[in-house]
Amino acid sequence: MSNTLAVSGGTPVRNTETHPWASWPLNTAEEWESKIEPRLREVYLSGNEGSGGTMIDTFGEQYARYSGTTYAIFMPHGTDAISAALAGALDLDGFSDGGEVIVPNYTFVATASAVLERRCTVAFVDIDADTFTIAPSAVEAAIQPSTRAILPVHLGGHPADMGALREIAQRHGLAIIEDCAQAHGAAYRGKKVGSLGNVGAFSFQSSKNLTSGEGGMVTTDERDIRDRVYAFMNVGRAPGGARWAYPRLGWNYRPSEYLAAILQVRLELLETQTDLRNRNAAYLSNALKAISGITPPRLAPWVTKHGYHLYCLKYDPGAFGGKARDEFVSALSAEGVPCSIGYRSPLSQEPGMAHVAEKYPHLIRTWPSPNTERVCEQSVWLFQNLFLGSERDMDDIVSAVAKIQHAWNS
Ligand SMILES: Cc1ncc(COP(=O)(O)O)c(C=O)c1O
Repeated sequence: MSNTLAVSGGTPVRNTETHPWASWPLNTAEEWESKIEPRLREVYLSGNEGSGGTMIDTFGEQYARYSGTTYAIFMPHGTDAISAALAGALDLDGFSDGGEVIVPNYTFVATASAVLERRCTVAFVDIDADTFTIAPSAVEAAIQPSTRAILPVHLGGHPADMGALREIAQRHGLAIIEDCAQAHGAAYRGKKVGSLGNVGAFSFQSSKNLTSGEGGMVTTDERDIRDRVYAFMNVGRAPGGARWAYPRLGWNYRPSEYLAAILQVRLELLETQTDLRNRNAAYLSNALKAISGITPPRLAPWVTKHGYHLYCLKYDPGAFGGKARDEFVSALSAEGVPCSIGYRSPLSQEPGMAHVAEKYPHLIRTWPSPNTERVCEQSVWLFQNLFLGSERDMDDIVSAVAKIQHAWNS
């Protein structure tokens, strides 16, 4: 292997043309012919591509069973799922101030924008530096009389500290809405995410571990919440109710039967894929221990299964000749290992959010977020599809990191 880094013109550790990583989605002609095409054909020939079809209902039942919840309501996007979950849990019609919702400052924009869209105010709080998920102590400190809910994000697939959050929620009479967009299949002490709070919201957007290109799901055990979410999704109708009866006010967030048909096929593979990601991630973490300056993801004791949508490691420039994290990401990518710095800054500092906070200061409260700031500077993300291959693939990641370290320290 050439010692010259690929970023400086050397030969990469992995030639991704000859040795591609597992693709995502894992589409094959064989799967199309044997599984997908027959399911899509069934929808097509039934003539029921939207209302009246059975794929959405069946997929909802399957997903509820998978998540260990009583109900699951299919939505067009994860963002809509969060909005609907908030509307359901807090009984919001969206016309008056909905109170405050506490969210982590290290997350995708939709976690907070969905809260604002429902006319709630956002409190951004810090994360735990090891799990990258909302810090219960920061939640507790942020609670004020207008607080109504906590919105933990199972970031990258690592379940948040739900035991501590549930205890806080109970003591203060708050709802818990789980953002499970990055955590399909993840489990907290043996219970799947989406079944740990009052309501859960999932995304099936194209990068997610279960995908139909776009899509989302709301999970809950509570019938009232299910009814409100259903009404939100289906122009105010009741589940099983008359077509032209609208017991509540709602919107049209009905998805297509075709998406549910595809997801039914892919859901069958999710558990096996999640287990494979967990095995490969454990192998990689063990091998990376030998490399100073790289901290593999730390799993909290409550994690019985990680979702591994993201493998978030921390990088210390001190062990890499003082080279900045962004240079490391460029060098690792050039060696054939796709990676990213992830979220660039606390969400509260992203211009879109900062602009809202400046224009409407009453809508956003931002708490000190030193862990979030540090994680934004140190983190390197590897994506879930890398973990759908073999241990040989993991060896390539280790070799690439070791090569970079050797080059920068000599
Ligand atoms: C943490 C988190 N929340 C919410 C979403 C929103 O999901 P969607 O893109 O399906 O609207 C995403 C994904 O994009 C996400 O990563």
